[in-house]
Amino acid sequence: MSLITSLQWMIRNGLWNGITRIKFRKTRPQDVTMVAPRRSPVTLIPLTDAFPAIPVSGLRIAEQVPHDERQSGAEGMMRFLAQLCAWISPMQAGRPGIAVNPQQALDKAYSRGHRQTVLQQASALRLDPQRMLRPPALPIELQGLPDLGTLALRGPYAGYLRRVQGSSNDFEWDLQELSSYSHQPDLYAPWAHVLFRADSRRAALHPLRIRCELGSIRPGDANWPLATRIALCAATTHTALVRHWTWTHMVGGEYFSAATRNHLAPDHALCRLLWPHMVGTHASNRLAILGQLMPEGDFEAIYSLTYSGLCQLIDKTSEHFTLRSCDPEEDARHRGLLDSGLPMPTFSNCRRIFRLFQAHAERYLRLYFTDEEIALDQSIRSWLAELDRWLPNGTGVASTPLTCAALARVVARLIYLASVQHEQFGTQLWNYQLWAETHPVRVYRNARRLPEDVYQRLVNSNYVLNVVRAPLLQDYARLALAEPGRPDRQPRAEAVFARFRQDLTRLQRKMERKPWAPWALYPADLEANINA
Ligand SMILES: [Fe+2]
Repeated sequence: MSLITSLQWMIRNGLWNGITRIKFRKTRPQDVTMVAPRRSPVTLIPLTDAFPAIPVSGLRIAEQVPHDERQSGAEGMMRFLAQLCAWISPMQAGRPGIAVNPQQALDKAYSRGHRQTVLQQASALRLDPQRMLRPPALPIELQGLPDLGTLALRGPYAGYLRRVQGSSNDFEWDLQELSSYSHQPDLYAPWAHVLFRADSRRAALHPLRIRCELGSIRPGDANWPLATRIALCAATTHTALVRHWTWTHMVGGEYFSAATRNHLAPDHALCRLLWPHMVGTHASNRLAILGQLMPEGDFEAIYSLTYSGLCQLIDKTSEHFTLRSCDPEEDARHRGLLDSGLPMPTFSNCRRIFRLFQAHAERYLRLYFTDEEIALDQSIRSWLAELDRWLPNGTGVASTPLTCAALARVVARLIYLASVQHEQFGTQLWNYQLWAETHPVRVYRNARRLPEDVYQRLVNSNYVLNVVRAPLLQDYARLALAEPGRPDRQPRAEAVFARFRQDLTRLQRKMERKPWAPWALYPADLEANINA
């Protein structure tokens, strides 16, 4: 390698690491308890109309960012950086592979500068040390050959497991959908189907067969380690591009916010309950599009798909969104897991949090409505109708006429989407993807290790996903409506918000009695919403 190419790399790497650290430092948690007055409705237009360089028409985004969310300076800067990416790309062909020792590879890319920026941000924001970004922790299931059986039961990929139809002991990950999109020719196609069998005590799952581009591979076959890596690559590709980006940000987040802004006035009781979990979404989605989805953005640089394959994947899979996936019990029932007898720590973790959301939403709604009143509230009916129209597969409200309990379930799903699901499929990947050798985001046909420019992009992209946002665990009392005709209700609403915080704090303390685990979702780590 010549001196010139090394120098070029030093300059471009220094530049983009510096930009990444500035992004981290400039992002501050927003006040999510100030409901803005409504000015004009949110009109949704095809993504490609707003960003002609991105051929995705199935998704819609706000034509204009609402006035209270506008960050003209930040958007201008992101547009400039998207252009800068074309002039001085963070990528440099021919870079060597990362170090064989994963900790060495990590320490080089997740530099002292990155870590210092985290500490400076924590001190500037007087952050609870529990909310600081910890250095990535290697999950036990990624030590050595990835343990797919454990990864199927806990952590970000637990949501893929389903029972094989008609079988009691067999389970599967079906990630074959990803075979439909073009990928880069020097990489293995990021799709797989994994068949698991529960052991006789139902204490664990063991992979029995992986079907992928290599054929049908079984444990003991020479290609088994490679097939395992391809399967994990498929899972993480789908999680990052579909579950996190397309479903949580672009479908769930964008449409939830648009419907709420269009149909619930700022002094509507339901708006007050939902506001902290959606404000900022339109602006932050636009910024993320500019950084990640533009040609030569993070997604194209990191994952295996070609740019057209990536855009087709996002376009097509947006139709597969279902709000049911934000309701752990309903989701597990649908996947045939509720009576499986398997240990499902992520499911139990998620269900516990969801039940707190549900109880909170119902307590709050019953302060303002009887079942009869809620069924007749025209704003709520219009809000639900718009969500049902925009969200593929609707809201899943089965109850007619509407009741407080049924609406509380929908509200809990939306809060879950913005907090738990966003954490699980976005920020939690920090502890998984950065161990790039055992947990590959791409698998090279010539068996080479991940080049250092791709790895640096992966580290920086995950770092920015972990910027500090408004915490879920905070005081929402300011959202309680002041009603001249009902002075008794404001303190009761404040008490409902306080109870929510207490319940989450109690769960946090309970979870802290056990050793910290990278797969666990802690209330203190959750954010009120997805906005950056
Ligand atoms: Fe995100």
